[in-house]
Amino acid sequence: PLKIAVIGGGSSYTPELVEGVIQRFEELPVEELVLVDIEEGRHKLEIVGALARRMVEKAGKPIRVKLTMDRRSAIQGADFVLTQLRVGLLDARAKDEAIPLKHEFIGQETTGAGGFAKALRTIPVILDICRDIEELAPDAFLINFTNPAGMVTEAALKYSNVRTIGLCNLPIGTRKQIARLFGVDAEAVDLEWTGINHLNWVTRIAVEGRDVTDELLRRAAGSAGLTMKNIPDLGWDAELLRSIGALPCSYHRYYYMKEEMLKKQLQELQESGTRAEVVKKVEAELFELYKDPELAVKPPQLEQRGGAYYSEAAVNLISSIRNNRKDIQTVNVRNGGAIRCLPDDASIEVNCVIDAAGAHPVPPSTPVTPQIRGLLQVVKAYEELTVEAAVHGDRDAALQALTIHPLVGSAEAARKLLDELLEAHAAYLPRF
Ligand code: G6P
Ligand code: MN
Ligand code: MN
Repeated sequence: PLKIAVIGGGSSYTPELVEGVIQRFEELPVEELVLVDIEEGRHKLEIVGALARRMVEKAGKPIRVKLTMDRRSAIQGADFVLTQLRVGLLDARAKDEAIPLKHEFIGQETTGAGGFAKALRTIPVILDICRDIEELAPDAFLINFTNPAGMVTEAALKYSNVRTIGLCNLPIGTRKQIARLFGVDAEAVDLEWTGINHLNWVTRIAVEGRDVTDELLRRAAGSAGLTMKNIPDLGWDAELLRSIGALPCSYHRYYYMKEEMLKKQLQELQESGTRAEVVKKVEAELFELYKDPELAVKPPQLEQRGGAYYSEAAVNLISSIRNNRKDIQTVNVRNGGAIRCLPDDASIEVNCVIDAAGAHPVPPSTPVTPQIRGLLQVVKAYEELTVEAAVHGDRDAALQALTIHPLVGSAEAARKLLDELLEAHAAYLPRF
């Protein structure tokens, strides 16, 4: 019997996942879908859970949807544990976004100082979940969506024995965006990725088997629709793209277009508040819809969120593991030499062969150029330091992490941000 446990099951994203599970039921016959949440999330869990049950019933699939606050019973005997939790909920995210911005640094939930604070809060919780999996479902796969997914996955790989794969919707989303640009189906597009979560480059692209990398770099200039819903589509500069020689991901805008993005963020802060505040409104609307006893499908309003298609990514991955499919998917795994300029035990996000044993990285065929290597190595070093800081409460590691981060970049700024973030999130942080 196939059992999937979803930790953070009360998330507004859950109907997306349930839709994916229903659509792919023939190849992936899920018997038990357990949605777990904490006491604070009980209300949301009950609403989302009731919708999930209506969706399953309407589709006529024999999937048992269980709701629980008991994480251990949910994990017990699970084949897959999905983590999609947010420590401190959207209020904590709002602080991650607002505090750096107050000092005129990029304020983003996964990138820069905001992502750093989110990692400190989240890694201890994920490692706690890993202890439960080691004990109660040692053969289960942990599919981690929880951001910052690269660092969270790296911590689980380094500090637990759990078979962990990190998942982000950006690779699948980018493939769809490029397909749209070329007017073809997503299946016709093959991308090669080099990098880490939210900092990866498409180094080679083929459409219907033909290498169109240079053409893509020309077409991607300007606002070509190559972005995620949560990141403003500030146009890429043609010369920049040509000189990188690879397509940067949406999040690269925070690095390559730092001044423009900061200006945009400050303007948005004035107009509509932080992204967390925007998302809170979208969520409130979504939950009103979810309460409707007539509703038995995923409402289209959910597509306003940056996480669109995450269920497709999740179901693709779970199905390929379960069915030993040996296809290629872009996920976060232990490097193990695939990118030679990064440590073996670092998490990377590249194309992997997916089989019953998990995800095996395929070394990219394109060389890591200096322009990619430089930024990649410094941000990965920041990530290593942040993982150490989160696991050991190591203040020196925390200070160095922020000091070397390209979006912070000085010791004084790092100290100021660190102290303010530690204070703001004291309730959720390990001791420093
Ligand atoms: C992107 C990222 C996700 C992130 C999401 C945020 O697509 O890949 O990791 O969680 O956007 O979207 P939101 O609607 O919450 O701002
Ligand atoms: Mn089973
Ligand atoms: Mn992501």
